[in-house]
Amino acid sequence: MLPINRSRSQSRAGSPWSFPGMDYSDSRRKPQVVAKLVMVAILTAFCIFILKQSPAFSGPSLFLRREVGATHVLVTGGAGYIGSHAALRLLKDSYRVTIVDNLSRGNIGAIKVLEGLFPEPGRLQFIYADLGDARAVNRIFAENAFDAVMHFAAVAYVGESTLDPLRYYHNITANTLTLLEAMSAHGVKTLIYSSTCATYGEPEKMPITEGTPQLPINPYGKAKKMAEDIILDFSKKSDMAVMILRYFNVIGSDPEGRLGEAPRPELREHGRISGACFDAALGIIPGLKVRGTDYPTNDGTCIRDYIDVTDLVDAHVKALDKARPSKVGIYNVGTGKGRSVKEFVKACKKATGVEVKVEYLSRRPGDYAEVYSDPSKINQELNWTAQYINLQESLSVAWRWQKAHPNGYGSQSVITL
Ligand SMILES: NC(=O)c1ccc[n+]([C@@H]2O[C@H](COP(=O)([O-])OP(=O)(O)OC[C@H]3O[C@@H](n4cnc5c(N)ncnc54)[C@H](O)[C@@H]3O)[C@@H](O)[C@H]2O)c1
Ligand SMILES: *[C@@H]1O[C@H](CO)[C@@H](O)[C@H](O)[C@H]1NC(C)=O
Ligand SMILES: *[C@@H]1O[C@H](CO)[C@@H](O)[C@H](O)[C@H]1NC(C)=O
Ligand SMILES: *[C@@H]1O[C@H](CO)[C@@H](O)[C@H](O)[C@H]1NC(C)=O
Repeated sequence: MLPINRSRSQSRAGSPWSFPGMDYSDSRRKPQVVAKLVMVAILTAFCIFILKQSPAFSGPSLFLRREVGATHVLVTGGAGYIGSHAALRLLKDSYRVTIVDNLSRGNIGAIKVLEGLFPEPGRLQFIYADLGDARAVNRIFAENAFDAVMHFAAVAYVGESTLDPLRYYHNITANTLTLLEAMSAHGVKTLIYSSTCATYGEPEKMPITEGTPQLPINPYGKAKKMAEDIILDFSKKSDMAVMILRYFNVIGSDPEGRLGEAPRPELREHGRISGACFDAALGIIPGLKVRGTDYPTNDGTCIRDYIDVTDLVDAHVKALDKARPSKVGIYNVGTGKGRSVKEFVKACKKATGVEVKVEYLSRRPGDYAEVYSDPSKINQELNWTAQYINLQESLSVAWRWQKAHPNGYGSQSVITL
């Protein structure tokens, strides 16, 4: 656009410079002008032809159209672990899906899998963009007719957040604000937000209910809590339908083996216990390091609530279904059952069939002994209950994908845009 504007203003600025003696040249130029017009017409026709050939041309028009019975969901972070599973479920349930991701952490391979499963026009589109770029976000909202947003995109490692807090406040809190502004400006009125049990910090009483005070103790939890606060304040002054889901520890993958969890190799050190278990079973790392055996729990190791990703995305679909204008729903998403790290390790060994080496070390600072949810609110209000509650089974499913994809999504995870 800019070059065109500039050349226009130059020609306008040029008119005062034409001298009377030079007017004669006009008549001679006429055939040239006609030739130029013909050229422009040919070029324009050519451009339209090229555009029509590209899928990007037919795409936006379908995704810009509102259709009765077709709910169009924007899935941010849809190339990531949970977002890709959510997109798969939404597509299976006949939603129209637009994924926005800048592939900083996710995998283009996951997008390719989804595109392969749902190739029909108007089902799924992927937009490569950064949510920190407000202009890009606004353009996306202008060019698409979204009915709802599921906002997964974030950075999500507690340890990393203490090392690089600004990255967390920027990519969680600030980006959520940008997204909310775009939703508000473009009249998109339903938001399902990915929050976390890390917003509770170290509560004294277990299990954690939605009424447990939120006193986060690391930048990750604080950034998510701040994003929640922004959403809640905005919802009071608008008719937005809001669902905030606070996940506990997410594990597992698609039972049909199409998607998996594939964090970047450089993030492995910050990784979660299931990733570490699989890496150890694959021989990528020498063994599992269990930090802390003297916690006041049954076997001395930490207790966590592991929620299968298939159950988690089911909670999202139910939340979307029950979201109502001017209403806010806040829900814990967990099984309600705590499992110790020792139990987890046992299940990991059984699921992988590998006698993973385990090293027991002293406590890691900042870990709390016990965290598990009370999921009765989501059970009562959304009729949701965790179905995949066999730890070993969830890990077996995830292990099958890991074993088949030792390099994650492989070479496809390299950005080829
Ligand atoms: N995995 C868990 O155990 C867990 C627990 C509680 C909450 N959560 C939340 O769930 C959500 C998804 O987590 P995940 O485990 O799937 O993480 P993930 O890293 O696999 O996925 C996040 C995705 O967001 C994208 N992204 C990040 N910043 C972006 C930006 N600025 N612009 C565009 N895209 C961007 C990444 O490329 C990635 O694909 C996060 O909000 C996380 O905080 C996860
Ligand atoms: C993703 O977005 C961040 C800003 O949030 C940016 O710094 C980074 O370069 C982007 N990554 C890619 C691969 O575009
Ligand atoms: C997050 O924000 C920081 C700026 O604080 C940026 O450098 C980084 O690339 C962003 N994106 C990710 C995925 O970390
Ligand atoms: C709740 O869900 C179960 C199955 O998950 C279903 O059979 C039942 O009809 C649902 N109840 C209501 C009130 O929707």
